[in-house]
Amino acid sequence: MENFTKKAALQQHLAKLKADGAVITFVPTLGALHQGHLSLIQQAQQLGNVVVCSIFVNPTQFNDPKDLEKYPRPIRDDIKKLEQVNCDVLFNPDVTEMYASNEKWHLDIGELEGLLEGKFRPSHYQGVTQVVYKLFNIVKPDIALFGQKDYQQFLVIQKMVDTLKLPVELVMCPIVREPDGLAMSSRNIHLLPADRQHALILSKTLNKIKQGFNPDNIAQLKQQAEAAISNEPGVELAYFEIADGDTLHPANRNTKNIVALIAAKVGKTRLIDNVVLVSP
Ligand code: PAF
Repeated sequence: MENFTKKAALQQHLAKLKADGAVITFVPTLGALHQGHLSLIQQAQQLGNVVVCSIFVNPTQFNDPKDLEKYPRPIRDDIKKLEQVNCDVLFNPDVTEMYASNEKWHLDIGELEGLLEGKFRPSHYQGVTQVVYKLFNIVKPDIALFGQKDYQQFLVIQKMVDTLKLPVELVMCPIVREPDGLAMSSRNIHLLPADRQHALILSKTLNKIKQGFNPDNIAQLKQQAEAAISNEPGVELAYFEIADGDTLHPANRNTKNIVALIAAKVGKTRLIDNVVLVSP
């Protein structure tokens, strides 16, 4: 695997490969890689000839400086994992390589800005679009892959690509789960053993909703889910929504694309999860 920390060197390397006709696929990450990320790399390998992974803990998308500080950064392990799945290129810049001081950024992402995650993490998606825009400009990928676990993030990035007419195709890849159902996340390492058990209420609830889903009972199902999560010890529900998968507004019986999304604090760790209930 080729490992770059500087934009210019990476761009030079990729320009040569592109000139030879390579299809560049790209998996941007914050690092602390788990099987979910590695499955993105493997799917990227099916779609192109050269897979680029970036590891960059982007400060502008963290609302809470403590969260940024404690975000895991096991770069040596990450490199080993990427080598094991034969990733071609790693881009691992530092903050000064990515940002000038006092840079300004604002992108109109419409209502996605203030719904669900947006309500709880103001400015988070501005930080995400800011860094993904920069990364797309550096890597110039043909295809970029993102996990379904950050469902709203995918919609926001798609909105950016459409608004700015960026020449990249986005692919959403399925959530990878632990054998007991917990969605894989770099934050799971912060869960204490008891929290780890309580956290299962998220995937269990989503599973139950999926099994018993009936578009005529959305309000009732939402109430049941909220009650189940709120009754779980150590779990503080932020939101549970059965939403239109395109707009994230509450779904109704006529909605063609329906997703259930959840966010909760388990112990001190904030987790998100979702499941598609109806696809168009
Ligand atoms: O989903 C993530 O890991 C991050 O939000 C991303 C897309 C790499 C931007 O920093």
